[in-house]
Amino acid sequence: MAGGKTTQRIDKMLGHLGYGSRAELKKMAKQGRITLNGNVIKDTGTQADPDQDRIEVDGELVLYREHIYLLMHKPAGVISATEDTREKTVIDLLPESYRVFSPFPVGRLDKDTEGLLLLTNDGALAHELLSPRKHVPKTYEADVIGEIGPYEIQRFAEGVTLDDGYITKPAKLQVLSIQETGVQVTSRISLTITEGKFHQVKRMFESVGSKVLYLKRTAMGPLRLEDSLAKGSYRELTEEELKLLSGYSPGTAAEDKP
Ligand code: URA
Repeated sequence: MAGGKTTQRIDKMLGHLGYGSRAELKKMAKQGRITLNGNVIKDTGTQADPDQDRIEVDGELVLYREHIYLLMHKPAGVISATEDTREKTVIDLLPESYRVFSPFPVGRLDKDTEGLLLLTNDGALAHELLSPRKHVPKTYEADVIGEIGPYEIQRFAEGVTLDDGYITKPAKLQVLSIQETGVQVTSRISLTITEGKFHQVKRMFESVGSKVLYLKRTAMGPLRLEDSLAKGSYRELTEEELKLLSGYSPGTAAEDKP
């Protein structure tokens, strides 16, 4: 994926997989416990190609990969960061076996926003997906105050002016349902935007006199959040999703167009 270099230091690979610290691996190599293509290695700085070479520790084959790609259903209450002294982060929801790969979230969802979040350690892919010139569409479902209708749909299609003067790119707004509870009317909507300004969805609704009460991301580029993925859980991307993502060019799927 994304043209990474093919050979890497053996101690780096084994370290990632939790076999031990650099010093521990050095000791293990001295003890003759690490082999590369059948030959004992003494220098753990030796380079190997994880796709071509056979690395064994204590006679057991090491299965290595450089990158991981996880699709998480982010729950509300955790922040989209790799570490924080006070708040729980999305990385805290992962087991050590994934954390050793140093994944990070691709873009951010607010602390109170739920939904699809991609986590990876593939910097090149993340950079591509976040690049403003890529216009990767992101779809959100939200409950917002008021009866949303043709007026707001038209305004969002033309672009609205946010509180800092920024004019948003055309966005596709759909009304899924209207609820009336007592005196309050709320609308469940779906919104697809192709940019990612700070608090963008919340600020777009503020610009038309509404307010977001609940926000969930349901899609990003070719990725969809399935109903079966519970809040707080995650899964690896499928081969098919990875292929779609790495060759992703917006506008290839009709429903991606705002
Ligand atoms: N827009 C928002 O306002 N918040 C999010 O978390 C994502 C998009």
